[in-house]
Amino acid sequence: MKDKVKEAFSEAYGGADGAEMYFAPGRVNLIGEHTDYNGGHVFPCALTLGTYAAVRKRTDRVIRLASVNFPEAGVITESLDDIEPGKNGGWEAYPEGVIWAFRNHGMSPDTGFDIMIGGDLPAGAGLSSSASLEVLTGTVLSDLYGFSAGNKDIALLGQEAENRYVCVNCGIMDQFASAMGKKDSAIYLDTASLEYEYVPLSLGTRKLIITNTNKKHSLNDSAYNDRRRECGEALGRIQRDPEGAGTASLCGIAADRFEKLKSCLDDPVLLARARHAVTEDLRTKEAVSVLKSGDIMAFGQLMNESHISLRDDYEVSCEELDVLAETAWEVPGVIGSRMTGGGFGGCTVSIVEEDAADLFRETVGNRYRETFGYDCSFYVVSVGDGPQRIDPQQAYK
Ligand code: GLA
Repeated sequence: MKDKVKEAFSEAYGGADGAEMYFAPGRVNLIGEHTDYNGGHVFPCALTLGTYAAVRKRTDRVIRLASVNFPEAGVITESLDDIEPGKNGGWEAYPEGVIWAFRNHGMSPDTGFDIMIGGDLPAGAGLSSSASLEVLTGTVLSDLYGFSAGNKDIALLGQEAENRYVCVNCGIMDQFASAMGKKDSAIYLDTASLEYEYVPLSLGTRKLIITNTNKKHSLNDSAYNDRRRECGEALGRIQRDPEGAGTASLCGIAADRFEKLKSCLDDPVLLARARHAVTEDLRTKEAVSVLKSGDIMAFGQLMNESHISLRDDYEVSCEELDVLAETAWEVPGVIGSRMTGGGFGGCTVSIVEEDAADLFRETVGNRYRETFGYDCSFYVVSVGDGPQRIDPQQAYK
């Protein structure tokens, strides 16, 4: 992909002299789903798959953007001075949103640039191709123009772009995982305080396998925003009860306290949503603790329980994800398997014994094809570092 991006840059903009190359990763979340806007914990890791950019500064205020993943959009030309929310709805809204967010914080590039983007993450698969594009743009801006944004700032600016420019109401997990990724480690992040810890992902004889339903999900789907609204409503009802006054977030409620506060939620849907937030946060804390103690089987069991909660209480799974996860649970050598990301399509993540990987692929792949009439895809993934400028020796070899 790196070479393809560089070639496309050269073709679109007349040679690649003076161009720099950058990379930002996608992510997979191991556990802690739909907790990042409920004040809870998440446990994602950055992938070695992600998004690349070749970029060169210009001397005027023009920016030209193109992507090898969206050839039909061609080269988009505009002025730095015309970047305002609500203008564009195409892929370019992500990099534009980041330029806009940087500007909001006093970091305005003095000149434009030509950029070619290209990613090897399957689009719409819930592996954060959008967040990786945002973090990539932030890294480019910060490095090329000498702004003082650190990786954590880049994550927050990416989220600001997504929330206020692209108008998707996501939490911080995806941008944080991309910006702060570390090879062979997962990130245990408290989304309320942004305190985090790297936990080595020592899988030994096991592989991390992502299975794509090939059913596109879209976070614009009103269902994601519905879940946020329902959680807000559940929290509001708890806070209005004298017993629950002062409760800061759903994930902050301890299990025994939740048992007492449950009576504030007479609506069964709100109760189920809140129960997911509370139990998922507990599972995430527990998962990190068992992983640290080397009990990978217990970690896998918590992954499975997370899927069940997302399926039954939070209702963000779908038939395709359920067939993938539930078939995986039947295969000997599968440590754990669950839907990952926002849901309603996208991927599952599974931890599988190396010598069971073929059986896993065969069993899950066949069942999926028999059920839906088309194939799912498998990716054996590695956990990689955060964003980086690519050494020219490497980029132009
Ligand atoms: C999407 C959002 C994240 C998070 C997950 C669900 O990936 O972008 O902020 O809410 O869904 O865990």
